[in-house]
Amino acid sequence: MQTREFVIRLYERHGHGLVEKLTAIRYHNVTSRARCGLAGGSTGNPDCGFLYLLVKAFARRSIFEIGTYVGTSAVAMTMAGGHVTTCDPNDYGCLPPGIRFLNMTDSDALRVLRREGAIVDMVFVDAAVSLDAIALLNKIGSEDMIFTAHDYAPGDKGELCFRLMSKHYRRATESTWFLPEAEPVEVTPGLLLERTTAAMIPNRLIAAL
Ligand SMILES: C[S@@+](CC[C@H](N)C(=O)[O-])C[C@H]1O[C@@H](n2cnc3c(N)ncnc32)[C@H](O)[C@@H]1O
Repeated sequence: MQTREFVIRLYERHGHGLVEKLTAIRYHNVTSRARCGLAGGSTGNPDCGFLYLLVKAFARRSIFEIGTYVGTSAVAMTMAGGHVTTCDPNDYGCLPPGIRFLNMTDSDALRVLRREGAIVDMVFVDAAVSLDAIALLNKIGSEDMIFTAHDYAPGDKGELCFRLMSKHYRRATESTWFLPEAEPVEVTPGLLLERTTAAMIPNRLIAAL
């Protein structure tokens, strides 16, 4: 299955109410950045919508995010029903209640989760993932963990995540990558999804979609 077909299938089966959710997600983004005087750098609607659909479609419950910033992507995944733990060495103070924030790097946050005995069933990376973090995900990732990375483009951090996860994640061979196409997918007139997110989905989840 190509990325386009995958995204359309997700939207057709799980996209009910997505437009309204995206409006609320964008509201968080715009108001938070205005409050903190920040410009740009937050995950855009096409990728937030894609993350939302992945959480909904595959009933993800325990999500780990690397790179909080103002929390737009964390809000999107939370709205889809996931419990999100997000980490960032910088605290922008923009997260709404209900999202757990660990004010530290990816490896340190994963060590905290490991000590707590947590299992993670989805990861969204919006920074450069470290080898140390992948080693920890090999330990605390669920059998059917979904991995996603933002900014998949030549030489960008998403491509680095793609290369490192393909090589070092222990279940990479049991999964399929869906990489962004040249243009986002227009699932219905005016609604674009999946601009720059690389998603590694376990084959058995794809088969059940
Ligand atoms: C592009 S922003 C994330 C945007 C966020 N997804 C959103 O929707 O608002 C990247 C963030 O990654 C953080 N970061 C950089 N290296 C990190 C690391 N090793 N662990 C966790 N966060 C990191 C940066 O401080 C920055 O806030």
